[in-house]
Amino acid sequence: MNSLQGKKILLAMSGGIAAFKVAELARSLIQEGAEVQVAMSEAATHFMTPVTMQALTGKPVYVSQWDARIPNNMAHIELSRQADVILIAPASADLMAKISLGLADDLISTICLAKECPLIVVPAMNKQMWDNPATQRNVAQLDKDGVTVLGPTSGSQACGENGMGRMLEAHQILEGVISFFQEKVLKGKKVLITAGPTYEAIDPVRGITNKSSGKMGFALAQAALEAGAEVHLIAGPCHLNTPLEFTGKIQRTNVTSAKEMHSAVMSDLTADVFFSVAAVADWHVKNASAQKIKKEVAGSNTPTLEFELNPDILASVAESAAKNKKPYCVGFAAETNDLERHAQEKRIKKNIPMLVANIGPDTFGLDENELLVIEESSSQRFEKADKLHLSRQLIRLISKKI
Ligand code: C5P
Repeated sequence: MNSLQGKKILLAMSGGIAAFKVAELARSLIQEGAEVQVAMSEAATHFMTPVTMQALTGKPVYVSQWDARIPNNMAHIELSRQADVILIAPASADLMAKISLGLADDLISTICLAKECPLIVVPAMNKQMWDNPATQRNVAQLDKDGVTVLGPTSGSQACGENGMGRMLEAHQILEGVISFFQEKVLKGKKVLITAGPTYEAIDPVRGITNKSSGKMGFALAQAALEAGAEVHLIAGPCHLNTPLEFTGKIQRTNVTSAKEMHSAVMSDLTADVFFSVAAVADWHVKNASAQKIKKEVAGSNTPTLEFELNPDILASVAESAAKNKKPYCVGFAAETNDLERHAQEKRIKKNIPMLVANIGPDTFGLDENELLVIEESSSQRFEKADKLHLSRQLIRLISKKI
């Protein structure tokens, strides 16, 4: 998927050892379809050579604001006008200070002052430099000025210390840039999502669960965040990282059982949209044991489990939505036959405006899916694609409904 097809990115590098990650970043931006033009500060050339960056991007690299290769010798104007976004990685403490003050005494700072396009900075520095109140003031100013700041993160640093200031990895920066370009169709909206399986205990070490991986719900959380929404993801037991974790923007609540998921959802009903993606267990074990059921004690008697119905989370939210006019509820269903009829029946039974059915008997754990989106008087097919791509399509559709 070429998520950055046709996007023109001015990749500006300032001095820092994290510059080595930018070689990988330039390649991955290009692989996603972007056109990458590199500019480097003089300091950056001590860490990576312009030759390396030119070889990777296929374009000459600019270092000096007096570069005579630019016909009118105004590199700062020419380069900034050609870009859809300026991406500074690594962004040193010094460069961020200059930009926040509006100084313009070298190529990159002059480009930033002359720019018409948005700016993304990816800080990289020693932890003391990051923690310094001056840097924190500058970052806060950049944020106030509408600059997108990606990272930094915490971890081991080239200087041998450990702490905040480490630059994000190339793949995270790439994700951040792709997210940046998504339309902000849910800006100002709140989205609540359940994802993954639930786990119903039999005893403290055994339980009943299902094959849900959580991938679809997590992809929806990412797509909603990219679209500008405030996102609360309530996840059953699954081993997925929170999407765009480095932004720290998705609120995640981990739950185990359907009852826990129900109470987590019901205590946050202020959302504008509710995606009920979780594969919630229909029953829990009524006679679950507080101690491990010992084979020796049970002897030849196999234990008998008694089941009791779990609360239907989606139906409870839909009931509240009927009174409060929100959230807009979207249910999910896995059907094996007569898909459209069963899905429409389920939508009506749950009293929700939209139900999304997985096409195909078993999409659990896969990265791709194919969907049938059922509404009261229409249905549409979303062709096979990866779950993030489908989620972005769904988010665009939902944004027109609310
Ligand atoms: O009732 P059924 O499981 O077929 O419907 C699936 C939809 O209902 C999904 O959106 C699922 O998240 C939701 N559901 C729920 N609580 C339950 C059972 C299902 O929210 N106890």
